[in-house]
Parts: sequence; structure tokens; C-alpha cells
Amino acid sequence: MGFRKDFLWGGATAANQCEGGYNEGGRGLANVDVVPIGEDRFPVITGKKKMFDFDDEHFYPAKEAIDMYHHWKEDIKLFAEMGFKTYRLSLGWSRIFPQGDETEPNEEGLKFYEDIFKECKKYGIEPLVTITHFDCPMHLVEKYGAWRSRELVGFYENLCNVIFNRYKGLVKYWLTFNEINMILHAPFMGAGLYFEEGDNVEQVKYQAAHHELVASAIATKIAHEVDPENQVGCMLAAGSYYPYTPKPEDVWAGRQEERENYFFIDVQSRGEYPAYALKEMARKGIEVKMEEGDKELLKAHTVDFISFSYYSSRVATTDPELLEQTAGNIFASVKNPYLEASEWGWQIDPLGLRITMNDLYDRYQKPLFIVENGLGAVDTPDENGYVEDDYRIDYLSKHVEAMRDAVDQDGVDLLGYTTWGCIDLVSAGTGEMKKRYGFIYVDRDNQGNGTLKRSKKKSFDWYKKVIATNGEDLSN
Ligand code: BG6
Repeated sequence: MGFRKDFLWGGATAANQCEGGYNEGGRGLANVDVVPIGEDRFPVITGKKKMFDFDDEHFYPAKEAIDMYHHWKEDIKLFAEMGFKTYRLSLGWSRIFPQGDETEPNEEGLKFYEDIFKECKKYGIEPLVTITHFDCPMHLVEKYGAWRSRELVGFYENLCNVIFNRYKGLVKYWLTFNEINMILHAPFMGAGLYFEEGDNVEQVKYQAAHHELVASAIATKIAHEVDPENQVGCMLAAGSYYPYTPKPEDVWAGRQEERENYFFIDVQSRGEYPAYALKEMARKGIEVKMEEGDKELLKAHTVDFISFSYYSSRVATTDPELLEQTAGNIFASVKNPYLEASEWGWQIDPLGLRITMNDLYDRYQKPLFIVENGLGAVDTPDENGYVEDDYRIDYLSKHVEAMRDAVDQDGVDLLGYTTWGCIDLVSAGTGEMKKRYGFIYVDRDNQGNGTLKRSKKKSFDWYKKVIATNGEDLSN
């Protein structure tokens, strides 16, 4: 009983939130670079405010982030010390193709990741690679309108051809698009979409989503052709919806909210647009243009496993304006009166993880992989950088317990678990450093001050023990 013997314990990061080195090694500018901290962040990430370059009035935390570009050896060593079996990281697309539409890649960028993968292998750490975690070269945004253009499919295909061949034998687990459903909620940060006056926003988003879905199927196809050992997953920002009351209308509202997210995974895992989505699009007047062969591609190249992030459950109601709202992963939800919340208002619901896992497993019957989960909190280090983060240990142990129940009691097939931000990094939602998730503290603040020194928190040793006992000993 318990987790499988080869369970992949580890941690997750994203290039734009940890690497920095935004203009080093021949890297081109990306959408994720020009997203500032502060009150303009939300309008920029939602594609409502145009910011295609840096200006002097804003601070852009991704430019240096935690400078993993220069600290990766030290960081991987610490991951290895915790006993990581896997490390989830993402590729900076514009490191490999600085403009995005070149035919030849940037060798320095390719080599950078190759060295990282080799370093991981040295410690027996299996890399889990997100091909794009929100980023898109700015040149593609400016010249083609990013994913609104069909041409992006070809550029992404080019990227996939290069990386699958180059990293053959080094990387086996791949995710095509991080939180693919975020295109609906944070379209500029998630897919480089900026909206001009008069744009039919829904139409643009779903057309861009179609391009990503086709690109994802092509990636899966190439991955399998290049190396049959490759395992490809989709990635959903998950969190099941609870109806606010047993009123059938609330239950129905929850179903509809779920479908907005499941839509993506239904296509990636079952290989076709679900009937409810086609009806909804027709009602809204959305016409997704498909090219000949798209349907066949989607059908023939479905994913091998379902990965997802889970931070909280969500609540649905027909009267959202009457009820208190709470913050959440990018988009707000109705506040659940039965749950506590983090300092950022994200509600804490370990049982919700078990429910979400069951919902996904029942629906797709494919192995699951939890690739993000964690608590964003304010840490107060002592003079040595040590943080007594019992609150984080408490959060994580309850979630590991819930996922163990899903495996043990419900029979869910779970491949692994990577906690989000295993080392402190820049928050995607707010751009803050202050919102920390890591087992490793990084000395850097919201304004970019600090020595960047890494130090272990209390949770570092706790997670080491969890991994060593394959999730049996969760005690603090
Ligand atoms: C997910 C993203 O949305 O949640 C990560 O994949 C992000 O990039 C994480 O960092 C946590 O969100 P936040 O806003 O606390 O950084």
C-alpha cells in the first residue's frame, strides 16, 4: 500500500520565475519579462494594458528573478540533498529561439538546459520538462499576435523537433503547456495575447486555444516518434467546484464552470472537442477555424498522463454578486465559509485535492501527476536565513495525506508530486518575492534587493524525510 515504489517526489519551478538572465546567452525578450510588479500587473497579464517593453516607471521582477541562471548547480545540489527523484522546470522558449521564428536554434540556450539535465541525472533526478510555462518570444507577440496566429503552431513544432532530438535520453517526461486553461484568465501572460479595441475577445481566446491544442497534439506526436520512451502530459490549473448550496441551479453553475476548464483536457486526453463545448461556442457565436487534418491530429495524439496544479477548491453559485469573494490562482471565486485561507486569501482544502484527483481520474482514466501544490506565505528568517515554517509543513503534510488517501482508498494511479516553488521564486500572480513557497529561502525582496543567498528552511528537512520514507512519515 502507499505510493508506488518509483513515485516521483520533487519540486517545480518555471524559467521566467527563477532564471533571470533575461538578456544573457543570446536570449530574446519574452512576454513574461515585460510583466511588472504593482497595480499595472493585472491589466498587463490579462491583455488589457499594452506593455511590450520595459519602461522606467515599473520594476520587472523576471529580469533577474532569483538568478538561477547563475545558481543552478548550487540549487540542484540542494534539491538532491532533499532526495528529489524529479525536478520540474520549464524551458525559456526565447533562450532556444530568441525570436521564435528562426529556423536554427541558439546553441547557447540549448546547451544551458542540456547542462542542467545532465546535472540532474548526476544525482539520479529525472527532469520533468514543461515546454512552455507561460512564455512566448516577444517577437512572436509583436509580429504575429502570438497564439492568435496559426503560424505559431509551426514555430512551436520547430521548437519541439529541436528539443526532443537534442534531449533524447536525458528527458523522458514532458508537459506541453503549463495551465493551458489560463489562456482564458491571463491571456497575455499565458499566451502572449493582447487585445485591441474592437477585438472579439472570446473569439480570439478560443482560436488561440485551438492553436495551442493542435500544437500540443503535434508535440505529443513528435515526442513519441523521436523516442517511444517519452511520456507526454497535459497540464491543468485544477481545483474542483463545489456548489454553494444544494440548489440545482448552483450545482449546474458548478458543472458549467468545471467544463470551462475540462474543455482543454477533454481535447488533449480524449482527442476531440466535447459536445457541450461545441454547443456553447455556437451559442456565443465563436467560430473556431480548423485546418484540414486538425481533427485527425487531435484524435491520434492524445496525452499519456494528466498533470495539474492544485492550490484550492472553488465554489460556484448563481448569485456570485451576493456572496463574499476570495482570491485564488489568478481568478477569484466565491468564498467557502468552511475553509481557512492563506495570507493571500487562497483557501486551504486538502480534501479538495482528493476530490479533484478523483474527478480527474474518473473522467480520464489515465495516470495523474500533481505538478504544483504549495503554500505561498510570508517567511521571517533569522540572521542565518533559517525559517521555522511550520505553517508550510502543516499545509503540505495535509495535502500529502489527502493524496495518499486518493491512492490508497480510491485507487487513483498517481505518478508523482512536485511541490510548487521548491526554492523561493517570483510569484506569477502578483510578481512578489514576499509570497514564498520554498523549502529553500532566497534572500531577495520585492524591489530586487538582497544577496540572493540560499538557506534551508525547517521544511527542507521535513520534506527530505517524507521522500526518504516514500510519504509514510509526515510528522513534523
Ligand atoms: C500556477 C502557475 O498558476 O500557480 C505558477 O503555474 C504560479 O507559475 C503558481 O507561480 C502559484 O501562483 P502565484 O501567483 O502564487 O505565484
